[in-house]
Amino acid sequence: MSGLRLTLTDAGEDFDTAGAAAIAETVVADPKAAVVVATGRTPMGTYGRLARALPAGAGSALRVFQLDEYVGVPPSDPRSLAGWTRRSFVDPLGVDPRSVVWLDGLADDLRAACRAYDDAVTSAGGLDLAVLGLGPNGHLGFNEPPSDPMSRTREAALSKASLASNAGYAPGLPVPRSALTAGLDVLLAARRVVLLVSGAHKHEIVRRTLRGPVTADVPASFLQQHPNLQVVIDRDAWQV
Ligand code: PGA
Repeated sequence: MSGLRLTLTDAGEDFDTAGAAAIAETVVADPKAAVVVATGRTPMGTYGRLARALPAGAGSALRVFQLDEYVGVPPSDPRSLAGWTRRSFVDPLGVDPRSVVWLDGLADDLRAACRAYDDAVTSAGGLDLAVLGLGPNGHLGFNEPPSDPMSRTREAALSKASLASNAGYAPGLPVPRSALTAGLDVLLAARRVVLLVSGAHKHEIVRRTLRGPVTADVPASFLQQHPNLQVVIDRDAWQV
């Protein structure tokens, strides 16, 4: 794991500050970087901190890619991951939503929507940065176990673990059964990956991700082979 940089933090503010600094490094080096950004509970404080830490407009030229989206959920729905991406990252950084590459979970032809996404990644010259959370089952985006490292952007059925974990995102509303996800291939090919992990409930999956066998059964374990991975992790999760 020669490419691993581990940033161990206290939970809360310290974690958010370190996560924001990790992302800011790319923004400062290349204000037009192509970045894919996760939603989920973990990165929310980090994104808020990032928006406050960057000089006004500094992140507005980023080429943002949505990481995943539920199938059949419009952007106006409280469960929409596009809506969440917009509220948490796109709007606070002043990125024009029309310039974002969205995953269209309402498309008549979902395969074509996924191909369009992969084509947009190719046209961008690949991703400069992937900001990812770690699923309780080792998923990245909705690349659920088992996922081949060459998996393309596609529709994926949510695992039981993801259905349970995501149930709290929009209380009272059912979690959609399937989602579009950026493929493991484009995520693993990102020139830099920042993996954000917090909470004691993640410590076993972190151990399997970073120290276990590299296997499709833990899709995040392929990150062990990534040449430029930064893991920002709080002490609750770091009980490896
Ligand atoms: P979480 O989700 O940040 O809400 O824990 C992470 C994930 O499922 O990828």
